[in-house]
Amino acid sequence: MTPDEFRRHGHAVVDWIADYQSRIEWFPVLSQVKPGQIRASLPPNPPMHGEPFDALLKDIEKLILPGVTHWQSPNFFAYFPSNASGPGILGDLLSSGLGVQGMLWSTSPACTELETHVLDWLVSMLGLPEKFLSSNTGGGVIQDTASSAALCALLAARERATNYTSNEKGCDGRIVAYASTQTHSSVEKAAMIAGLGVENLRLIEVDANFAMLPDALARQIEVDKLAGLVPSLVCATVGTTSSNAMDPIPAIGEICRQHHLWLHVDAAMSGTSALCPEFRHLQDGVELADSYNFNPHKWMFTNLDCSCFWVADRKALIKTLSILPEYLRNQATESGAVIDYRDWHIQLGRRFRSLKLWFVIRHYGVEGLQHHIRRHVELAQQFAGWVRSDKNFELAAPAPLNLVCFRHKGGDAINQNIMDRINRSGDLFLTHTKLNGKMTLRLCVGQTNTQARHVEKAWRRITEEAQAASA
Ligand SMILES: Cc1ncc(COP(=O)(O)O)c(C=O)c1O
Repeated sequence: MTPDEFRRHGHAVVDWIADYQSRIEWFPVLSQVKPGQIRASLPPNPPMHGEPFDALLKDIEKLILPGVTHWQSPNFFAYFPSNASGPGILGDLLSSGLGVQGMLWSTSPACTELETHVLDWLVSMLGLPEKFLSSNTGGGVIQDTASSAALCALLAARERATNYTSNEKGCDGRIVAYASTQTHSSVEKAAMIAGLGVENLRLIEVDANFAMLPDALARQIEVDKLAGLVPSLVCATVGTTSSNAMDPIPAIGEICRQHHLWLHVDAAMSGTSALCPEFRHLQDGVELADSYNFNPHKWMFTNLDCSCFWVADRKALIKTLSILPEYLRNQATESGAVIDYRDWHIQLGRRFRSLKLWFVIRHYGVEGLQHHIRRHVELAQQFAGWVRSDKNFELAAPAPLNLVCFRHKGGDAINQNIMDRINRSGDLFLTHTKLNGKMTLRLCVGQTNTQARHVEKAWRRITEEAQAASA
């Protein structure tokens, strides 16, 4: 493809995306295809000869769109948002256009330095402790996902707890870590991959609001220490996936300090709310964290993947993950004056992901971002108010931000029925969880273009389907 052909097709693709954005509201939010349907519509063999680009774009419309669940629809209220935006998409396109592989500072200095700079900006934008700044003992890095960030935190914690011997010797079955019963499953996966073993991840009980009980944590650590085990890390969550519960970081952090354990704070979705000073109290105690992670690819208008991870002591992370083969040696690395981000995560190769984040922050400005986050919270709170005042429904958990957990009082079957009917209709997309053993519906407001009318429609459709399901 010559640059001129690229220009022509590129314009067509951008036009297609802009058209998609204008008509997205009218697609069924949850794809309605059956398993195997998309593959059945694709040719069994790859083409022997290249095809005209126009044909590819036509097939996006004809073959692919029916199998897309529209995460960018303003009627998407399921799971958690994965909200994209114009500046984010264009920044990502530029990243592809430059095609940089930023494993080392020297393989593209701008890729490293822009990332360090934007992550330092975010420390002040989110009111995070200054120890996370690159000018201090810490620093931030963009990971692909919160799952990878949790794994890196656990690896560094494992190393620190074993006096940096576990990388050499392997795990001996004595290293333990702690999370709550509500912690995201990625921490369990991290315990598997890091060689602790799932049995050595202690899932601590939670209180009536689904937040970790610090006393239970302290007791478990004592028991483990008495048994000769080696506690390494505690993961506290700001906004659990199921119900948006907030673990009490000050108390958990104090326990970690006493026992010299690594405190990782997972604020995957809800961390974005800290852009607004009035929500920062939800992560009080974050100054006690050894590492912190939030996903701009969830709620901060930056398309997947973009997960920001900070550590208070970058030396501990680098010592854990750095290997320097001869073919990567270079003067800049040897001078010690640069960051080589390959030492800050699992993989070697890395995209120029900070471009999209930089574009998002510059396009919206801090005030613009705050405006949208406040609006999402306000809409979710309005929805929670309607639930509270309807005699047939109840809230199933506190709703501190943009996620509302609620249920029809008629029991599991009717809730399942309401959700299935709504999702089949394509008008909106809701998902569920189980809280205290009961089927619970979740409505999460966070798509970039969700407005009052979408949330109003969601409530109208829920109550209509509730009536139909109870009839
Ligand atoms: C609290 C929490 N942590 C971690 C994750 C995992 O996020 P990622 O897909 O970025 O690994 C999620 C996503 O559901 C989450 O809600």
